[in-house]
Amino acid sequence: MNSRLFKVKPVQQILSESSDKQHGFKRTLTATNLTTLGIGAIVGAGIFVLTGQAAAQYAGPAIVISFIISGLACAFAGLCYAEFAAMIPISGSAYTYAYATLGEFLAWIIGWDLILEYLFAASTVAVGWSGYVVSFLYDFGLTIPPQFTAAWNTVLVNVPEMGWKPLTDSLSTGLSASGISVESLPHVTAILNLPAMFIIAFLTLLLVRGIKETANFNNIMVIIKVSVIVMFIGLGFMFVKVGNWKPFIPENTGEWGHFGWSGIFRAAGVIFFAYIGFDAVSTAAQEAKKPQRDMPIGILGSLGISTVLYILMAIVLTGIVSYTQLNVADPIAVGVNAMGDSMFWLRPIIKIAAIAGISSVILVMLMGQPRIFYAMSKDGLLPPIFSKVHPEFKTPYFSTVLTGIAAIVLAGILPINILGELVSIGTLLAFTIVCISIIVLRKKRPDLERPFMTPWVPLVPLLGAGICLLQMFSLPLDTWLRLIVWFVLGLFIYFFYGIHNSKLNNQGLKK
Ligand code: ALA
Repeated sequence: MNSRLFKVKPVQQILSESSDKQHGFKRTLTATNLTTLGIGAIVGAGIFVLTGQAAAQYAGPAIVISFIISGLACAFAGLCYAEFAAMIPISGSAYTYAYATLGEFLAWIIGWDLILEYLFAASTVAVGWSGYVVSFLYDFGLTIPPQFTAAWNTVLVNVPEMGWKPLTDSLSTGLSASGISVESLPHVTAILNLPAMFIIAFLTLLLVRGIKETANFNNIMVIIKVSVIVMFIGLGFMFVKVGNWKPFIPENTGEWGHFGWSGIFRAAGVIFFAYIGFDAVSTAAQEAKKPQRDMPIGILGSLGISTVLYILMAIVLTGIVSYTQLNVADPIAVGVNAMGDSMFWLRPIIKIAAIAGISSVILVMLMGQPRIFYAMSKDGLLPPIFSKVHPEFKTPYFSTVLTGIAAIVLAGILPINILGELVSIGTLLAFTIVCISIIVLRKKRPDLERPFMTPWVPLVPLLGAGICLLQMFSLPLDTWLRLIVWFVLGLFIYFFYGIHNSKLNNQGLKK
């Protein structure tokens, strides 16, 4: 039993099974496409929603340092992903890397875990998309019935000049501070988040239609969001008031994580979400023209560009407006307001950028998930239908539609905070395992050809794994419990189905 669970799949076998004739995907993606796919997946709800809250509650202007710390941790993991993705350019990403190094059981665990990253991230971010769309339409006098704009059972209040907003602690504190009692405002309890469900359905259809079409749509979204972010940074610098950066590291309030250095680390944990996505590039390995050369470019290039944008954005945002005012769902819009009436025209443009940016995050996450299912199904750990490729469109259409339906259901009914923390813990676990696998494979198979090599092994992977583990331990107990429940479900499926149908193990028995 033990030997079955920990049997590794030889790298040569993985590579030969995925020869172009067998997998049926189309190789159309260039280095530029892969980099834009990465930026598409990275820059989204994290920067447009979470930055302000993390600055206001935990780090103050030193959120800039939090972005550097979190970016560094992702860079360590990114370097490890780059080595694997160039060496084993297979759509299964971390799942396949674990199969080649740690054995089938851990590969299954990581494959199951990646559902938390990709599928759940698509739903989480779709909820953020819905918030921006509702507020954009409201600015033009259009109101979607509030019952259909949030997760089931969410209480919404109609705030003057803002429209219907989910009732959160920070909203009620903000309202009381401006002399408005929440009880006096009209309330409604939501049933479904229809805009979130709509965007997932639309992007799922696009993904079924073809990878080239997907990449083209993504390119347009990325051009919109990056240009607007660059515009915000450029214009914003002219409105910076140096006083807003003082004190740069506000004094700790006496409670761990509230300002001071502990606050900087806590904020780094929160904004880790903003960096998730660069690894999704590796799931497109079988559709890349030259994966050995272009995978590292796509992964590290997108991570590098996004990190620079984030750091500049954090510097500008905390310079134009005091961090104390940023505890809102649309901090960048608050920054634009602070620039004064002459910059009023930038407000809708920022919202359009957020909507475009978040769409591409959903798109790339919905792209990654079916490709991992595809690899797991090819190995026999999931039923064969998961690896069916559409004869004309050359996309894994069954798993794409299934992923879409599951994401629609989650986005329609679950609130964003539960989803978001699960995404972070799932991703951190995947990053940890990928970092450790680099060390394992360097020891076991030093002979393998590595078109890209992570520098300073084992230091870089150890730092990567260590920082990811620390961030996992800083997440709430509830999130850990949900993770455990998720794995129990996964183990049940593995012992009920996967272990009996695993191609690697059946091969072994025949010998
Ligand atoms: N990094 C992605 C975002 O911030 C998940 O939306």
